Amino acid sequence: MNTFWSVWITVITLGTLCGIGALLYWVSKDKMGVEEGEDMGHEYDGIREINNPLPKWWSYMFWGTLVFALVYLALFPGLGNFKGLLGWQSSNQTVTNLEESRQAIADAQAAKQLNQYARELETADGEFGEIFRDLVYREGTDEYRDLVELSQDDQAMKTAQRLFLQNCSQCHGSTGRGQLSYPNLADKDWLYGGEPMSIKQTIMHGRIGNMPANISGLDEQGVDEIVSYVLSLSGRKVNSRDAEAGRQKFAACAACHGTDAKGNPAFGAPNLTDNTWLYGGNRAQVEETILYGRQGVMPAWSPILGEDKVHLLSAYVWKISNND
Ligand code: HEC
Ligand code: HEC
Repeated sequence: MNTFWSVWITVITLGTLCGIGALLYWVSKDKMGVEEGEDMGHEYDGIREINNPLPKWWSYMFWGTLVFALVYLALFPGLGNFKGLLGWQSSNQTVTNLEESRQAIADAQAAKQLNQYARELETADGEFGEIFRDLVYREGTDEYRDLVELSQDDQAMKTAQRLFLQNCSQCHGSTGRGQLSYPNLADKDWLYGGEPMSIKQTIMHGRIGNMPANISGLDEQGVDEIVSYVLSLSGRKVNSRDAEAGRQKFAACAACHGTDAKGNPAFGAPNLTDNTWLYGGNRAQVEETILYGRQGVMPAWSPILGEDKVHLLSAYVWKISNND
């Protein structure tokens, strides 16, 4: 809040309180020239107005609310930018970035200030954790079952499907087929690799794709050419002179997408030759990708679900992509 609004709010608030105080004082003192209980000299249809002051308990309560308001405004924030004498905050506003937020959460957990959600998770884990452990560990050991083997266990996959519907379907769709900006997990086209352990790595720790915005600083013509080249890679009909000019400019892209443009799972750079599009394959969409860049974020699930459930989900994702 800038100084003007801070002063504005303070003046209006205190002004109103002073006004109310003055009014109360005035009605308690002024007799309007007539003693208490006397006739004010007004009569309407036989009803006479008598000078009756506010009942004492009523005006004391009024004064009480005024005092309360002043004490409250002194102790708590409310008057413009004034932070209040107690320094109270509605939330932990000293947290200004993700690092501080993680630290604050870790501190709260270490100090056993578990919030309700965390307590519920703990209870749920106590009740159901065993079931997940039975599913994902090799019997009688603390070793995880092989993901491919686990993917053939129907009972386990039923549980995994529920987990998927609860946690993943809002982005990847209930059948895992994805949608614009969210990859299809049920095909064999992978950004980060489709081996069981790559899938698990993705789900455990999350992924952030980074397609930079117009890295070569191309002008309109240049962007047009490189879009033509990209479209030609998946067999689209384009102006061949443009495509050839675009090919020359692809060196800057090859660092991530590979010289053959078949992508690189180390960066999550997609294969540009397969006519499968994460961000859409029409000219306008490809142009937008190249001009403004894209940063897809896959959240990390190990802190939310724990490794047992992630293991189960990894087997499920492997299963739906190898289902045919
Ligand atoms: C908030 C949306 C969101 C949710 C929820 C989400 N994902 Fe993702 N996921 C993404 C995005 C976006 C990507 C692509 C990241 C990129 O563009 O680099 C992705 C990528 C993936 C990939 C890698 C695909 C590839 O081609 O390599 C896997 C596997 C995956 N998610 C599985 C899951 C599972 C399992 C869950 C549930 C536990 C889940 N996701 C929940 C948004 C989400
Ligand atoms: C720093 C590595 C990097 C460079 C350099 C790079 N890209 Fe990308 N590109 C990516 C990544 C990573 C993605 C996926 C982004 C995501 O998952 O959110 C991507 C996505 C794309 C897509 C979207 C594909 C789809 O399926 O929708 C196109 C098109 C593309 N890049 C073209 C280019 C072109 C053309 C250039 C050169 C001008 C280029 N990229 C340079 C890393 C790069």
